[in-house]
Amino acid sequence: MKIINVVGARPNFMKIAPIIREMQKYPQMETLLVHTGQHYDIEMSEAFFDDLGIPEPDINLEVGSGSHAEQTAHVMLKFEKVLLQEKPDLVLVVGDINSTIACTLTAVKLGIKVAHVEAGLRSLDRTMPEEINRILTDAISDFLFTTCRDANENLLREGISPEKTFFVGNVMIDTLMRNKEKAERSDILNRLEMDDTDYALLTLHRPSNVDNCENFGKILDALDTIRKQIKIIYPVHPRTRKRIREFSLEEKVEAMPGLKLIKPLSYRDFLKLMLKAKLVMTDSGGMQEETTALGIPCLTLRENTERPITVNEGTNYLVGRDKNKILKYVDDILTNKGKRGKTPELWDGRTAERIIKIIAKNI
Ligand code: UD1
Repeated sequence: MKIINVVGARPNFMKIAPIIREMQKYPQMETLLVHTGQHYDIEMSEAFFDDLGIPEPDINLEVGSGSHAEQTAHVMLKFEKVLLQEKPDLVLVVGDINSTIACTLTAVKLGIKVAHVEAGLRSLDRTMPEEINRILTDAISDFLFTTCRDANENLLREGISPEKTFFVGNVMIDTLMRNKEKAERSDILNRLEMDDTDYALLTLHRPSNVDNCENFGKILDALDTIRKQIKIIYPVHPRTRKRIREFSLEEKVEAMPGLKLIKPLSYRDFLKLMLKAKLVMTDSGGMQEETTALGIPCLTLRENTERPITVNEGTNYLVGRDKNKILKYVDDILTNKGKRGKTPELWDGRTAERIIKIIAKNI
């Protein structure tokens, strides 16, 4: 059984790591790892391979950045050649990035089966590029592995046969559990010259937040008040770094002591910062899940989420960009520690095991 596993961008790496590890236990599975090269900076890519023990990619398509059409098309053209040469029985994709839909579409058109890990999540916001990638990938995949029961319901509503969908839990949490102890040993706090853990951790990279100057400005205004209450550590995504320059926001940001901008971090250093933070503020999808699994309060700076379980069961609050709302929740969390969540069903560190069992049985 020949399987091609695909990764492209940062959030894919923590999802593929446990899957590859589990596949290696099955002698009948021959696996190849294809990196599309959507993310290419050392900090956005290589650092994660080292940290997570992912083998070197067998093939790197080196597509890099571009418009959505360019990026998707480049992946498709290059991935098709790989498929024609390697003739795999299955392509496994994770998440919702451009590489996910590009590789799925290419494989399906060649009659190759596709497994999608993290299927069925819906923000119901079609202006979000990832939402289009999710809907299209799910519509044509053969195995849909979901992190929560409401994802199965979303798929059912879209007419996808329940025989193709498998509620297995969250591979991201497999990686989180495996690395928690090692992350505890990271010396990142020393390296950042932090002598206490009174800080909030921030990430921002969604186009809806950082590609629009007005929206980005609104968030910065809220941060300008928060940083007077608690220090904010902010590892900046390259996309956001670019926008800060383009929108001439450098001066504004520099004039905000207490808001500490740093480079993107490795998985374990970042996890250590998350573990010790009093509060997390983010527009990332994965961090909503990780904070819920860790019981750390999270404010999601978006109007919607494809991960409502983290709000309904976990420690996540959906606050958008409304300054008053953000400040109200920050106050509440800093005074009362926020709501107590519970870990969602099957987020137990054994999801990859369940996925590979199903694949072994059905291919
Ligand atoms: C992509 C995913 C998003 C995911 C995010 C995680 C899509 C549509 N978006 O968004 O779902 O949450 O990754 O980070 O697939 N850049 C670099 N170095 C890199 C990568 C990107 O400098 O290694 C810069 C480039 O200027 C590039 C920009 O970041 O144009 C955006 O990169 P891109 O891959 O298009 O999307 P992300 O915003 O990273």
